[in-house]
Amino acid sequence: MASQVTITPIAAPQGSRIDFGATVTNVDIENLSDADFQLLHEALFTHQVLVLKNQSHATPRAQYEVTQRFDPSASASYGHGATLDAKRSILHPDLKTIPHQPQVQVIGHGFVPEYEGLRDVQLRHPHHRTFHATTVPEAEDRDVTRFYRWHIDAALYGLAPPVATTLLAVKVPAGRTQTLRYDDGSGEEMPVPLGTTAFVSGEAMYDLLSEEDKQFARTTRVEYAAHPYIWMSSAKSRPTGLGLVSEGKELDAADLPPVDPAAVQVLPMCWRNPLTGKLALQVHPSAVRRLHLADGSVVEDLERVREMVYRLQRPAISPAHVYAHDWEEGDFVIFHNRGVLHSVVGAFAEDEVRLFRQCNIAGSEMPQGPLPVSAAA
Ligand SMILES: [Fe+2]
Repeated sequence: MASQVTITPIAAPQGSRIDFGATVTNVDIENLSDADFQLLHEALFTHQVLVLKNQSHATPRAQYEVTQRFDPSASASYGHGATLDAKRSILHPDLKTIPHQPQVQVIGHGFVPEYEGLRDVQLRHPHHRTFHATTVPEAEDRDVTRFYRWHIDAALYGLAPPVATTLLAVKVPAGRTQTLRYDDGSGEEMPVPLGTTAFVSGEAMYDLLSEEDKQFARTTRVEYAAHPYIWMSSAKSRPTGLGLVSEGKELDAADLPPVDPAAVQVLPMCWRNPLTGKLALQVHPSAVRRLHLADGSVVEDLERVREMVYRLQRPAISPAHVYAHDWEEGDFVIFHNRGVLHSVVGAFAEDEVRLFRQCNIAGSEMPQGPLPVSAAA
């Protein structure tokens, strides 16, 4: 039977230049036919972020199964694998695993007495004061927020980056708006719904570059730090959440778990969309350690590496390029983790309870880089 699934591109609000994201209706992830999935699959690689409405009834199992279907050869391991359990990892405190579906985690804010076999769960929405080098003054905390950390969901050590991440909004506190400030001297700011998830397109990030920078991005490879989330655990972020400030706080090799050189990742700076062939500038700005240039040289100096990456990425996180999703309960968002960067946003009050489920699975293969340019071209 033909699929009834309807896909509607998200209309960019006034002043916005976003050209990604789509709303999906007439779909039920508990009962997804092959035809339905085929449409979702095409839509994901075309629109990068899909918002499926009214999926509150979806079980953790259905969430896991649809996530896995985007990379059927992927083993069942969670996108961050065992690294998540390392107590010093910066990711550790923010995630709780669902006992009967361990690839699905609960995230959010506030106290939840019981959910899917978890009891007395105290959730904590990441707040920029725990991660940024500077902070919004306490008196403004209810009204002003920042991008917490722009990232790709990926271990970046050993395991391949997940293809897709899914997020289900189970409980969303009553809406209010905050002002998101960049606090980087640009004066940029934007209104955002409380607890939005912000997305930017890696394809737009690439398209915004000069021809010279595009050439650089196509031919440069990014080396990530070994055990990146432990390595960076004492370092602090820029006020834009787009990478770290360089204060020499990263852990020395002696303070990390043993490093397997074969697990260290050197990935293309641009990742190729498997359906459209478009290039996305995909760099996890906090985890980057070295740049390997086309001429074979390696940029070793960490501060310089970060400056080079920041200059390429910063234009694409300006307000006109950000999609800040206004969550409603039952929204099931699927995003192409290899084609967007995303960030947690917002500061909740103690009594504002937010409950989400998240799933991603380590990829079966590494992302593909640009096709080699033929000498005849
Ligand atoms: Fe994430």
